[in-house]
Amino acid sequence: MRLVLAATLALTAGLPAAAQDGQALYNTQCKTCHTVTGVSSPAGPSLKGVAGRKIAAAPGFAFSSGLKAKGGTWTDANLDAYMAAPSTFAPGTRMFARVAQPQARAAIIGYLKSLN
Ligand code: HEC
Repeated sequence: MRLVLAATLALTAGLPAAAQDGQALYNTQCKTCHTVTGVSSPAGPSLKGVAGRKIAAAPGFAFSSGLKAKGGTWTDANLDAYMAAPSTFAPGTRMFARVAQPQARAAIIGYLKSLN
């Protein structure tokens, strides 16, 4: 655990300010359900490597048929639309968390990309 923390700190030290804000936002708004370790939990798929990946393809998570039916990949635009209004983007999705502010969504997307 201590090692993971040290590695995380070392990683974030070199990131631009926006990516760090994104991490803070992620920690308060996404971390309850998501991990960035690559290992999904029953509460949510791991978001490590999600940017550019196929939608609903994180290993070890039972996705809703709504999100699986969406198709395509997690581009910036798709991540933005999903966070803005999950069930408009993918009717039937089991994620309900929303991020209303466009700048906040952009910062979180920057953070997610830094995990790739
Ligand atoms: C209350 C729990 C919860 C919170 C909070 C939450 N999510 Fe989710 N998220 C989920 C669940 C559950 C799914 C799977 C949805 C499905 O199968 O329809 C998901 C799916 C996703 C996916 C799709 C992953 C993939 O591999 O296709 C992304 C991207 C995502 N969430 C981003 C976020 C971000 C960014 C935040 C914070 C702003 C967030 N989520 C907050 C529960 C949550």
